[in-house]
Amino acid sequence: MYLCNFNYHSMTKSISGFSRLSKSKKIDWIVDTYFTNNKNAKKIIKQYWNTDEQLQSLHDEFIENTITNYYLPLGVAPNFLINGTLHTIPMAIEESSVVAAASKAAKFWLDRGGFKADVISTTKIGQVHFKYFGNKEKLISFFNELKPALFKETENITQNMVKRGGGIKDIELKDKTHKIEGYFQLHATFETLDAMGANFINSCLEQFSKTLKEKAQNYVAFDEEEKDIDVIMSILSNYVPECLVKAEVSCPISELAEGTDIDPYEFADKFVQAVQIAEVEPYRAVTHNKGVMNGIDAVVLATGNDFRAIEACVHAYASRNGSYSSLTHASVENDQFKFWIEIPLALGTVGGLTSLHPLVKLSLELLHKPTAQDLMKIVAVAGLAQNFAALRSLTTTGIQKGHMKMHLKNILNQFQATEEEKTKLLEQFKDQVVTHSAVVEAIEKLRS
Ligand code: MEV
Repeated sequence: MYLCNFNYHSMTKSISGFSRLSKSKKIDWIVDTYFTNNKNAKKIIKQYWNTDEQLQSLHDEFIENTITNYYLPLGVAPNFLINGTLHTIPMAIEESSVVAAASKAAKFWLDRGGFKADVISTTKIGQVHFKYFGNKEKLISFFNELKPALFKETENITQNMVKRGGGIKDIELKDKTHKIEGYFQLHATFETLDAMGANFINSCLEQFSKTLKEKAQNYVAFDEEEKDIDVIMSILSNYVPECLVKAEVSCPISELAEGTDIDPYEFADKFVQAVQIAEVEPYRAVTHNKGVMNGIDAVVLATGNDFRAIEACVHAYASRNGSYSSLTHASVENDQFKFWIEIPLALGTVGGLTSLHPLVKLSLELLHKPTAQDLMKIVAVAGLAQNFAALRSLTTTGIQKGHMKMHLKNILNQFQATEEEKTKLLEQFKDQVVTHSAVVEAIEKLRS
């Protein structure tokens, strides 16, 4: 039995003990509470269950209170030549034109030497935030004595990572008292190899916190009040400006517009100007970077990585010089067009969902089982390619032509067009501008 309270403010019910209900009881409560047509709501929820019970229970257990699965299409973009190796990139995304745009950009650069990518650094960061109101000199001396113990007392956590070449790189004491009275940090840097490293880092930090508090209690130079170090929290930072990857493309300007009637010099010039605008104008930079993230998030999701962490970090990085700016850059020098991205990406190819979710495993196999560094390169390339495709359209034809062509099928599905209607309308709109109203009109005409 569950307990329900009617809440007159929200005109709905609150509930205690929801998480302890069976899945079917949770669904009953949801549909009875929120839906007038509860039969239909239940049908939709169940429609997305997997018939393979084992697979369904795997998904049920990823999170609490699972009632069904939420599908996104998993598409693939072939022909990505990265450092001389061909890749077909898996992308999980709902936006109609993203995979098509990535594939188009991949093909374009395949004929011009492909993408080059390099990992610049792989350092991750974690912090113990604490309060200390005593003598600063004493804290510094205490920290110098404490530091070896911080390494020693995390050895059971770090030993496997150290064997493989990773672990804790350094731990610093940071004085943040100019920001908040009494605020200090243990600021630690980590190398987590092929793991994204969140669990590893957080486990180390929680041990640091224990060691810090215990050793402070026994530090003879501290007065009684100084011994009571108050740890506020211990947590990794998702901001990883030292976990950086660079990807680039370049070619002679004359090759930029082959097979089109565009003037390549005019195109290169407009393209560079479009990037410059995104470098200086935050309103444009956000949309510009959103296009970059269309490519990045789709691969991050397909490979089971944490896209919220990536998003939070990338946008902080885009603001690192005090104003939100473009993640990509372009130049024209000596008749050579160059376009590149430098971006922080904390990714993992082991741990987390990577060994659990069958589609994530499949995606990683499709990418030749990449190391985290390989994946950083692939993801950066996907972002660059996406941005290239967007800017190419924006500075030439505009994006709506291609975008609405891809969206046409969505509009037809919205109107539950039959296969026959779809064939006719797709044909009709081959050389007609796609707008929502034009499609609706065409459907109505066809049906009358
Ligand atoms: C749409 O999802 C993304 C674009 O708006 C990106 C851009 O404007 O550069 C096309």
